[in-house]
Amino acid sequence: MRNIVILISGTGSNMAAIVKAAQRDAWREKLDARIAAVISNRADAKGLAFAAGLGIATVVLDHKLFDSREAFDTALAAQIDHYEEPGSPVLVVLAGFMRILTPGFVSRYAGRLLNIHPSLLPAFPGLHTHQRALDEGCKVAGLTVHQVTAELDHGAILAQAVVPVLPGDTADALAARVLTQEHLIYPRAISDLLQHS
Ligand code: GRF
Repeated sequence: MRNIVILISGTGSNMAAIVKAAQRDAWREKLDARIAAVISNRADAKGLAFAAGLGIATVVLDHKLFDSREAFDTALAAQIDHYEEPGSPVLVVLAGFMRILTPGFVSRYAGRLLNIHPSLLPAFPGLHTHQRALDEGCKVAGLTVHQVTAELDHGAILAQAVVPVLPGDTADALAARVLTQEHLIYPRAISDLLQHS
């Protein structure tokens, strides 16, 4: 059984979409994988209640209680590795996890650490992607699922989806349109990766 650990910091709507996909028969028949735990660096992350309600293990690891980024990441890795099965490394899925990870953490999970970013990378890495796309007059926007490397919002692209930018769009309207696609594409990209690894 391949264990998946999802890291969140807030709403967790992508996490919820992945959990729901993983519960469907088609996923269960195709993939020997399950969502083993949801870890948040914030105790008030809304997604925690959703996961707990489905009987998924939840962990809160408050980054403010650690002296350094390295100390937090070491503790985070220890929590993740708790779900390691012999011969079957954990897949680590970042879903709105608002922490920059240390190079040591990233290399430990190289090839099995994924992120979703709300832009068509390599355009608009970092924050405020939707407003920046509007400011640039982009006619399309979208999302990217990618492998995580030490460089923020870089790494091999696994999946992308495009949405139109509509006249009069606000950043919030565009974000909502992109998020709808995120919920479809992220579970699919994870399933594809698991099938081919
Ligand atoms: C999503 O837009 C995701 O692309 C970005 O953060 C947001 C998280 O939303 N990395 P949610 O917590 O999954 O609802």
